[in-house]
Amino acid sequence: MATRIEVGILGATGVVGQRLVSRLEHHPWFRVTWVAASDRSAGRRYAEVPWRLGAPRPSGTSELTVEASVPGHAPRLVFSALDAEPARDIEPAFAQAGHLVVSNTRTSRMDPDVPLLIPEVNPDHLAVLTAQRQQRGWTGGIVTNPNCSTIFLAMALAPLRRFDLTRVVVTTEQAVSGAGHPGVASLDIMGNVVPYIAGEEEKLESEPLKVLGCYREGRVVPHEAVISAQTTRVAVVDGHTGAASVALGEPTSVAEIVDAWRSFQGPDEVRKLPTAPSRPIVYLDAPDRPQPRLDVDAGDGMVVHIGRLRPCPALGYKFVFLGHNTIRGAAGAAILNGELLKAKGYL
Ligand SMILES: NC(=O)c1ccc[n+]([C@@H]2O[C@H](COP(=O)([O-])OP(=O)(O)OC[C@H]3O[C@@H](n4cnc5c(N)ncnc54)[C@H](OP(=O)(O)O)[C@@H]3O)[C@@H](O)[C@H]2O)c1
Repeated sequence: MATRIEVGILGATGVVGQRLVSRLEHHPWFRVTWVAASDRSAGRRYAEVPWRLGAPRPSGTSELTVEASVPGHAPRLVFSALDAEPARDIEPAFAQAGHLVVSNTRTSRMDPDVPLLIPEVNPDHLAVLTAQRQQRGWTGGIVTNPNCSTIFLAMALAPLRRFDLTRVVVTTEQAVSGAGHPGVASLDIMGNVVPYIAGEEEKLESEPLKVLGCYREGRVVPHEAVISAQTTRVAVVDGHTGAASVALGEPTSVAEIVDAWRSFQGPDEVRKLPTAPSRPIVYLDAPDRPQPRLDVDAGDGMVVHIGRLRPCPALGYKFVFLGHNTIRGAAGAAILNGELLKAKGYL
């Protein structure tokens, strides 16, 4: 693309915002020309904002000034990595002012007229955006990606729908970077497991059903499976691990499930998106994988790793999955959604 499309970032000073800035530095379609955060950060040079990623600070944005999070001067396409509370007013204000907001935030995810997208799984749900604009009278709009653990679970479950997926029991071990910065106090997490993440279990029990549902006549009909979730915070820096048991209505072998994961791909137009991984799901045969330290960065952080598929005496089958929470679970997911919007002609 000769001229890259200008994009803005809301919440550009946070953990996910910095991931967005970092991953968009050399993006073939998009160029970050506007960054915003809270009034605490507004007015600072972006180069002066403390950089919190292991990846180097990108040079292309260092001369930008952090703006207040108000519409007016931002580009049409805006990625949002805002905290949920401020997002409640800020994202609709941008959408009303004509911006397409690609959000990481939970605030609008379950609104019936807001697409909750994983491009490889449900790109057709983007059509809900048309109803959103008509109903709300917006020239812009809001498109969301699911909660981080939901993305990994929904990607693991998507290929199992063909075997009549009926019940899921899942427990997650979620990294500290999932709590943003400064996140969890070190004395609370070092050498510890915290068996509660506010609001997380509710998201994991509801969002996958919307993602795995069917788009029919302008709305999404949720999948009928039942999900029971427990979520914990563990002393891992990046990478949410989950252990899931599933009940399948159809008699199915281990080989059929592994083949369903290994052959899983989005439609052609999604496979061609610049940051789409060639294989969204990687099944690992080794009995002690996936592990965050060994696997989380593989596939540029955009892959969901699965392993340890075996019989479960309670539900049928059980397995372990892993994803990079700030990449495939947040910034990378949003960028893929932005690419889908572009490919489908919404920009
Ligand atoms: N971390 C993850 O793994 C992950 C995964 C999936 C989804 N998410 C979601 O992504 C969003 C960002 O998460 P994070 O981990 O990056 O959080 P974070 O590090 O705490 O960053 C929050 C961002 O929101 C901005 N902000 C806070 N209050 C604001 C206000 N009143 N007005 C405008 N901006 C405001 C902050 O700006 P200042 O720096 O100026 O305060 C900062 O840029 C959250 O909604 C989170 O749930 C996170």
